[in-house]
Amino acid sequence: MTDRPTFQIVDQLSRIPSGPAVAPGTELLDTRGRALRDLRISVTDRCNFRCIYCMPKGVFGKDYPFLKRPELLSFEEITRLVRLFASHGVRKIRITGGEPLLRRGVENLIAELAAIGGLELTLTTNGVLLPRMAQRLRDAGLDRITVSLDALDEATFRLMNDVDFPVSDVLAGIEAAEKAGFGPLKVNMVVKRGVNDHAILDLARHFRGSGHIVRYIEFMDVGSSNGWRMDDVVPSREVVERISAEFPLESLEANYHGEVAERWRYADGQGEVGVISSVTQAFCSSCTRLRLSTEGRLYTCLFAQQGHDLRSLLRGEADDDRLRAAIATVWHARSDNYSEIRTAETAAARKIEMSYIGG
Ligand code: GTP
Ligand code: 5AD
Ligand code: SF4
Ligand code: SF4
Repeated sequence: MTDRPTFQIVDQLSRIPSGPAVAPGTELLDTRGRALRDLRISVTDRCNFRCIYCMPKGVFGKDYPFLKRPELLSFEEITRLVRLFASHGVRKIRITGGEPLLRRGVENLIAELAAIGGLELTLTTNGVLLPRMAQRLRDAGLDRITVSLDALDEATFRLMNDVDFPVSDVLAGIEAAEKAGFGPLKVNMVVKRGVNDHAILDLARHFRGSGHIVRYIEFMDVGSSNGWRMDDVVPSREVVERISAEFPLESLEANYHGEVAERWRYADGQGEVGVISSVTQAFCSSCTRLRLSTEGRLYTCLFAQQGHDLRSLLRGEADDDRLRAAIATVWHARSDNYSEIRTAETAAARKIEMSYIGG
């Protein structure tokens, strides 16, 4: 046993076997023919929120064994890996957490990644640290920011996030990001039936005409601690209907292959919204995403039960060729399609927490 809680399933951690060498520039395809394009990097497993769908207080209380600093990948280690990933077709990096702005000096990591060139650099945050961080992130070369916001009324916001921050802190964060030149932003709302679904229209009204894009996300059974039930999910179809009843919507083409959100525009030209339907309309067939956990484990799916230990290679003697081969081995073997095969049984199985592998 380790000191890590069992629901992180470290006992299933796999060592990456040495695979054949792959030349830099080789595009990697998994067993379903999907290319590797996006890398989501979790830079901390900590958060100043306790969202009920992500880090419920009952589990993530003061005794929760968060990672210790030496366990975290250093910025140097992350940058070395990102260079290798870029040489295998990764084009977009998303910095996540936990709450990524809690990682001290994260802007220095952004600057190091920006220096690699050719990568779209994005970050997902709960927004409350943006007033002091937004300009630094912009100056460091961050391209885009996505802010999570689950309600506009104080009572529901608190219920969802279970913390003392007022909604105005997030709105101030959004404003700071705009001022620093990040607009238009994406605003993510996880919808949980009976808890915050009345806020679907609140957010639509608030952000219509602002240029920002609200994305309504179906509550997912990610992790093993959020007590997910199908009854809690508001299908995206219903979200679109509810908004359309007040503000007619028209469907839009995807911006790029594998885009997670389905796009809709307000018929009166007041902007766009998105819906993310991982539960009712799985998008695994075009999933080009790989996740790198805070401590350097690769996860080929958000619902993975097993990580691949890249850190031990990094901190061992592995040269770049060996690391490249390891990345290729993991991606070539990938067959994940969890959202296509979800059942009540799989939903109840033990899975990695989202705050640990990055949202
Ligand atoms: P952009 O289009 O570049 O803005 O990014 P994105 O669409 O990947 O958006 P973002 O990273 O903000 O993801 C939004 C939400 O979609 C996440 O917080 C998850 O809830 C969900 N999501 C993202 N990627 C996946 C995935 O691979 N599988 C599943 N099931 N859900 C995902
Ligand atoms: N279901 C859907 N989305 C989730 N997120 C975290 N947990 C869940 C869940 N159970 C996503 C939200 C949030 C981001 C950080 O992670 O989009 O904005
Ligand atoms: Fe923190 Fe984001 Fe998880 Fe909420 S969803 S607890 S803000 S990491
Ligand atoms: Fe990709 Fe897994 Fe999400 Fe399917 S469930 S889209 S394979 S991360």
